Amino acid sequence: EKNGYEHFMRKEIHEQPQALQETMAGRIDLERGVVVLPEVKIGREELAAIRRIQLVACGTAFHAGMVGKYIFEKLLRIPAEVDLASEYRYRQAIIGPEVLTIVISQSGETADTLAALRLSKTHGSKVLGITNVIGSSVAREADEVILTQAGPEIAVASTKAYTTQLLSLYLLGIYFAQVLGTLDDGLRQQLLAEMYLLPRLLEKTLATETKIKEFAEDFQAKESIFFIGRGLDYPSSMEGALKLKEISYINAQAYAAGELKHGTLALIEEGVPVFALATQPDLYEKMLSNIKEVKAREATVVALVNAGDYETEKSVDYALYIPKTHPFFTPILSVVPLQLFAYHVAKVRGCDVDKPRNLAKSVTVE
Ligand code: F6R
Repeated sequence: EKNGYEHFMRKEIHEQPQALQETMAGRIDLERGVVVLPEVKIGREELAAIRRIQLVACGTAFHAGMVGKYIFEKLLRIPAEVDLASEYRYRQAIIGPEVLTIVISQSGETADTLAALRLSKTHGSKVLGITNVIGSSVAREADEVILTQAGPEIAVASTKAYTTQLLSLYLLGIYFAQVLGTLDDGLRQQLLAEMYLLPRLLEKTLATETKIKEFAEDFQAKESIFFIGRGLDYPSSMEGALKLKEISYINAQAYAAGELKHGTLALIEEGVPVFALATQPDLYEKMLSNIKEVKAREATVVALVNAGDYETEKSVDYALYIPKTHPFFTPILSVVPLQLFAYHVAKVRGCDVDKPRNLAKSVTVE
């Protein structure tokens, strides 16, 4: 069942092009330039009455939610918030019919996420669930359900579920924009055309594995690794840090790069590894200066940038490239080298990649 792969995690990382393809299938109509989501029965009037979109999830799904906030605010100009389910349910959040709740859960069984779903419904908020498991509690209890078509995810560390959650959020954001008319037709068609190419671009991104495999052992004895990024690269940094921690047991921290000066820079000294993501053109110059800041303190820097940005290479120790796409979609590609980095570092450290200590695939207890 591992299909010749040594670990489920690596198999699932490599299944992502297909998982994206299947999640997209039947949901975009390129000829008409529209998203087709019959499972989401929210009309224009109902949508126009929404004052806040509230995303709720745990762990990796929470990082997808962070990207979701960005997507909805950009495309709809509706305020969007994202909360950890275990915080949301206990903080007397403001919930009502004017709030659209979106819960994200691969398993559809995470106790805190389910509790947040139920709490939201009790307060009259419509709940839309994004889940990978048909018949799961989230699938049964949410008012509307989008199924990610990632196929069964066996490794404890989530990979293909994450990229399909992201794709589902992009589809939903563009769909809502289409219903509300907040997005210019031409721009929507352009976004959909780019989206259609993502499975193939992700396939190309998997080629970063060769280089990552070569340098993974340089990181095996590190005590701690920092991940930095801005804008859409920030959630990816969070996800990269989580992947590394859970399977390699190396401490990792993610920082919005603008926060470095506010404390973390004190930790940067010779040989401290910094994984810097700089895929957002409007923030590229700022990131470059953050990279120079940590390099000046002799950090060991891995940079993840867009193909074509070859200038970064000169100021870092290792450079990785993702294929060009619309800057809006980069999270789907940029997480792939981060998954592969965590995998290969964990592997050289001899860790049980598929079954990390102390963790369960689905957290059904609090
Ligand atoms: C990390 C990971 C976890 C899950 C989290 C939520 O790799 O897999 O952080 O993302 O436990 O699980 P679901 O999505 O099933 O609610």
